Amino acid sequence: MPSIRTASSTPELFCDGYGRPMIHARKLFGPGPSNPYPEATAALGLPLLGHLDPVFIELMDETCDRLREAWGTSNARTLPLSATGSAGMEAAFVNTVHPGDVVVVAVNGLFGVRMCDVAARCGAEVVPVEHEWGAPIDVERVLSAHPSPAIIAAVHAETSTGARSDIAALGAGKGDALLLVDAVTSIGGIELRADDWGIDIGYAGTQKCLGVAPGLAPFTINERAFDRRVVKPQSWYLDLGLLGGYVGEAGVRGGTNGGGRTYHHTAPTAMIASLHAGLGRILEEGLPAVWQRHEDAGRLLQDGLEARGLELFAEDGSRLPELTTVRVPDGVDSAVIRKTLLERHGIEIGGGAGEYAASVWRIGLMGHNATPDAALLVLAALDDVLQR
Ligand SMILES: Cc1ncc(COP(=O)(O)O)c(C=O)c1O
Repeated sequence: MPSIRTASSTPELFCDGYGRPMIHARKLFGPGPSNPYPEATAALGLPLLGHLDPVFIELMDETCDRLREAWGTSNARTLPLSATGSAGMEAAFVNTVHPGDVVVVAVNGLFGVRMCDVAARCGAEVVPVEHEWGAPIDVERVLSAHPSPAIIAAVHAETSTGARSDIAALGAGKGDALLLVDAVTSIGGIELRADDWGIDIGYAGTQKCLGVAPGLAPFTINERAFDRRVVKPQSWYLDLGLLGGYVGEAGVRGGTNGGGRTYHHTAPTAMIASLHAGLGRILEEGLPAVWQRHEDAGRLLQDGLEARGLELFAEDGSRLPELTTVRVPDGVDSAVIRKTLLERHGIEIGGGAGEYAASVWRIGLMGHNATPDAALLVLAALDDVLQR
């Protein structure tokens, strides 16, 4: 009998060596994406809504409210941009950098380097403040890098190194500059208080501690920054002025459509439903409890790694709980270990970034994966593959 393959049969790509579906088997313990919260996954399967359906509009409004809570902001202009975290970075700079503006960028890893590139493409005079990778940013050095920058930019949680920086201190000393912050790996994982810390522009991603699939960039901008924006930025898609109507400008000063909805682009309605559900799960647990869960899981993992004689990479005192960086022991082939973890245990961890590609591993316990069980699982799997 010929075998019948229907459109819904599991593609061979997603089968293990025995032809069994293994799409759910991966434990995503790398730098992202993480395994989504079950609520976020379930929401992807709900009946699809049109992007101007009143039910969707309500869902979008509630998602923006939930994002305000996750950001710690009352900014009216808080929305999920329809693209990944890098688009959040582009949107932040393209809307706020005027040609020749001085932009001071704290560089302590790959994403600070990327910020310099993006800001320069927007016409900024970039002043990079270089740090050793693995260290947090030196706030005094960043604040004294230029007497009157238009923008000071920094990464809260450097995913390339596992270091956390003090954004509140930057905000306290920023003077007249706008503070632009990358919160891709911090939102939903560690304390983040955009308004209290003086963040004027912030962008994030869904696929890390928010526990949602990749595809959206939660974004926030306050009135101070919006007033100084580039009125007609080079990017049409990421023009925040145009996007105001897309999420509804009700209650936003200067709104042009009286709170109605205008078509800008087709909202990714399934992804927004998923983000809505993921945020619902987080807020129900409570942000402080979620931060503590990440802290506890990260501590358990980091203590366990050190107890096994492994050396952590990020500076002590500034280690992110949600993303642990560890040096690959001498004589161990990083790629072989990662491959074995994946094939034998279904566990994905990340290699290092940049020059640390082969000498550092990055292990993420983010969102739904921030649990003691996950920490113990990855430690046991490492014991197995390292034969310790
Ligand atoms: C700190 C940081 N910023 C920006 C990005 C870019 O986000 P995306 O890959 O979703 O475009 C990432 C992704 O890992 C990140 O970790």
